[in-house]
Amino acid sequence: MDSEGLDDMEKYRLLVIGAGRMAEAVTSGLLSQEESLFSTILVANRSDQKRLETFASKYDVEVTTDWKSAVSNSDVILLAAPPKAHEHLLHELSSQLDEQLILTVAAGIDPTYMESQLPDGTPVCWLMPNTAALVQKSMTTYTCGRHVDQTHRKIIEHILDSIGDYEELTEQQVHDLTAITGSAPAFLYLVTEALEEAAQAYGLTDEQAQRLVTKMISGSAAMLETNTPAVELRDQVTTPGGSTAAGVEVLEQSDLKKVLKQAVYATNEHARKIH
Ligand SMILES: NC(=O)c1ccc[n+]([C@@H]2O[C@H](COP(=O)([O-])OP(=O)(O)OC[C@H]3O[C@@H](n4cnc5c(N)ncnc54)[C@H](OP(=O)(O)O)[C@@H]3O)[C@@H](O)[C@H]2O)c1
Repeated sequence: MDSEGLDDMEKYRLLVIGAGRMAEAVTSGLLSQEESLFSTILVANRSDQKRLETFASKYDVEVTTDWKSAVSNSDVILLAAPPKAHEHLLHELSSQLDEQLILTVAAGIDPTYMESQLPDGTPVCWLMPNTAALVQKSMTTYTCGRHVDQTHRKIIEHILDSIGDYEELTEQQVHDLTAITGSAPAFLYLVTEALEEAAQAYGLTDEQAQRLVTKMISGSAAMLETNTPAVELRDQVTTPGGSTAAGVEVLEQSDLKKVLKQAVYATNEHARKIH
């Protein structure tokens, strides 16, 4: 089916290969949209029937372990399987494709690689969500292949909308920024753990410490979302010579900024070795 054909249809048929956390995030996001572009969502894995039953009981989707039979009846195929599964999946898909739009959320599986594995002219797109997709608050970066047109973009943005915010970047930028949008949540969770431990040291229960720190972080995020620069917000809290300044000084002496940047570079260095 060509993209002109897609444009004429009101709704598209989505096949999701992989039935894990990311498949669930996208599916639940799509089903929570007021208007869906998809008439059907078919979710597949290889063998975990129990997982599929759970999926089908929670969401209004069809499920199967035989995704190969569903390819010809799909307009859009979302690969939500591990990166390592992609070589095989793309090979299997290759012989069956008839101009379907192919998307992946797998780390490192970029459009250049997908296009090299799929028939010439196949429209492909690489979406890099983060774990907050599970609560529809992902900051997703994405990049499209050479054969993606306006109709495909409409579908891609519909999917992106369902899991949060998004930004289109070059392929190289998606690789480079995955450390920040994808991995840096782990850095923030580490900071969270440290602050919770400090709160507990002052006699708070685990629950109290978790609530206090979580609310402090979500309040800080809300302040950042006013588009006030981070440095200005920091200045507002940090009276020169005051108590907060004493704390900030400790972080500056430890060169926190440098350490965090090193963490970003180490993440990318490691990712380059894998892919
Ligand atoms: N979780 C995140 O926060 C996150 C963020 C960004 C990107 N991603 C990407 O999203 C993808 C899925 O991650 P996830 O966290 O959802 O993983 P997950 O929960 O482990 O789920 C992976 C799913 O893929 C299926 N699968 C594995 N090999 C397959 C194959 N050869 N053919 C078909 N299905 C296969 C698995 O079921 P069977 O083994 O039964 O087939 C399972 O349903 C990964 O590529 C990951 O890089 C995840």
